[in-house]
Amino acid sequence: MEEIFKHIDDNLQARLEQLFAWLRIKSVSADPAFKDDCRAAAKWLADRLAEAGMQKAELIETGGHPAVYAEWLGAPGKPTVLLYGHYDVQPAVKEDGWDTEPFEPVVKGDLMLGRGTADDKGQVHTHLAAVESLFKVNGSLPCNVKFIVEGEEEGGSEHTEALIRDNAEKLACDVVLVSDSPMFAEGYPSLCVGLRGLAYGEVVVEGPGGDLHSGSFGGGVANPANVLSQMLARLHDADGKVAIKGFYDDVVELTPAQREAIAKLPFDEKEFLKNTGSPVAAGEKGYTTLERIWARPTCDINGMLSGYTGEGAKTIVPRRASAKLSCRLVANQVPEKALNQMEAFFKEVAPTTVKVTFIRHHTGQAYLGDTGAPAFVSARRALKQAFGAEAVEIREGGSIPIVATFAEVLRAPCVLMGFGLPDQNIHGPNENLRVSNYHKGTRAVAAFFVELAG
Ligand code: BES
Ligand code: MN
Ligand code: MN
Repeated sequence: MEEIFKHIDDNLQARLEQLFAWLRIKSVSADPAFKDDCRAAAKWLADRLAEAGMQKAELIETGGHPAVYAEWLGAPGKPTVLLYGHYDVQPAVKEDGWDTEPFEPVVKGDLMLGRGTADDKGQVHTHLAAVESLFKVNGSLPCNVKFIVEGEEEGGSEHTEALIRDNAEKLACDVVLVSDSPMFAEGYPSLCVGLRGLAYGEVVVEGPGGDLHSGSFGGGVANPANVLSQMLARLHDADGKVAIKGFYDDVVELTPAQREAIAKLPFDEKEFLKNTGSPVAAGEKGYTTLERIWARPTCDINGMLSGYTGEGAKTIVPRRASAKLSCRLVANQVPEKALNQMEAFFKEVAPTTVKVTFIRHHTGQAYLGDTGAPAFVSARRALKQAFGAEAVEIREGGSIPIVATFAEVLRAPCVLMGFGLPDQNIHGPNENLRVSNYHKGTRAVAAFFVELAG
C-alpha cells in the first residue's frame, strides 16, 4: 500500500490540474444549452479512463445525456466493484453569489472551489485517480472494476434507471461504491447508510381570466394567491408534522438503538446553524435535528409564483398562483404513493371558487442499507488507513435515487463513502472540496480495492 500511497501523493498536483480541465466543461444537465458540454464531459472521462488502463471505455446512449462505462476484469476469482457517480452539475453563474467564476476552478489554501468540485466530478475523480495509481504501480488492479458515471443525476436520473435495468448483466458486481455525499465532519471519515427519497410536485391555482383591479373586484371573486397560501398553510400541523393524509403510513421509525447511535455522534448544532445562516434549528417536534434530516420525511415549498413582484405597488387580484413543492421521503415510503397523497390533499382542500390542478414532477426512492456485508469491513479498514481515524456511520438527507435501483436490480451492497464536508455548498455558490480530503479520498478508494481483494 505504501508504494500506491506514495504514487498518489506524488501526483496530487498533476491530478488537480487534470480534474480542473474537467470542471471547466459546463456539464449542466438541466439546461439544453449545455447539451454538447455534457457530451464533452462524458467523452473527457471515457478518454481519461482508457488512458488510465481501463478497458472498453465507452459512452452508452440513454435518450438523454450519455452515461460513461468502462471495465477492467483482469482479476478472476476476485470481487467486482461497480463505481458510480455523475458528471452532470447544477447550473451556476457568478452572480449567484460566487467569489470566483464557478467554471474556473481555483485552489485557495486547502479548498478547491468551483461547480462540481464536491458534486460530483471531484469525487468521481478520486475513483479515476485511485485506479490509475494502481495500474501505474502494479500494472493491474487487485479486483475487478467497472465504472458507470451518468449525466442526468441532477435531473432525477430520468433515463438511468432503465439503463441499469437493461444492462443488469453488464453491470453485475459484488459491491457498488458511491462517492457523492459529505463526511460527517472534518476528521470523521464516514459510511453513509441512508439517503432520503423524493416526490416533487407543483400546484396551480387559477381564478379570474386575467389580473383584476383589486378595488373594483377585490372581495367580489376569490384571489388565487390568497387561496394558495391558505392551502399551503394546511400542509403542516402545529407540531411541524406533515398533515397530508396517510403520509406517515409506511415510514420506518427509528429504533431506540439507532436513536442512541445518532445521539452519540459529536453533532455541533452551532456549526450546523452557521452553515445554514438560520438563527435557530426547527422542524418536526419530538426529533433531534439530525434525526429530522436523516430519518424523517418532510414537505418543503421550493418556490412560489403569483401576482406583482416588481418595484413599488400594484393593486391587483392575480389571475394565477402556483407553488413547487417536494417531499423528502424515508424508507419505506413509496414515491408514487406520496405524489398521489399530495394530489389528494390539494383536491380535498381546494375550494370551489378557483380551479386547482396538480402537476407531477420526478420521484426518487429512499435508501436504507445495512453495514453487515463484508465489503463494509474493507471500507472501514480503507478509511482508517487513508484518514487515520475510525469511520463513523451516518445517514444523509439528500437523495441519490439510483442507489435504491442498484440495491434492487444488482442485489449488491452499496458502500456510500463520500469525501465532501457539510459546508461544501453543493448546488449553491462557492461549492468546494478540501484538497486534503480529495487526496485522502483517493487513498481510501485505492485501499478499498486492495482490502476487498483480501
Ligand atoms: N449528491 C447529491 C445528493 C446528496 C446531497 C447526498 C447531500 C447526500 C447529501 C445529489 O447530486 C443530488 O443533488 N441529488 C438530488 C436528487 C434529485 C435531483 C432527484 C437531491 O437530493 O435533491
Ligand atoms: Mn451528487
Ligand atoms: Mn447534486
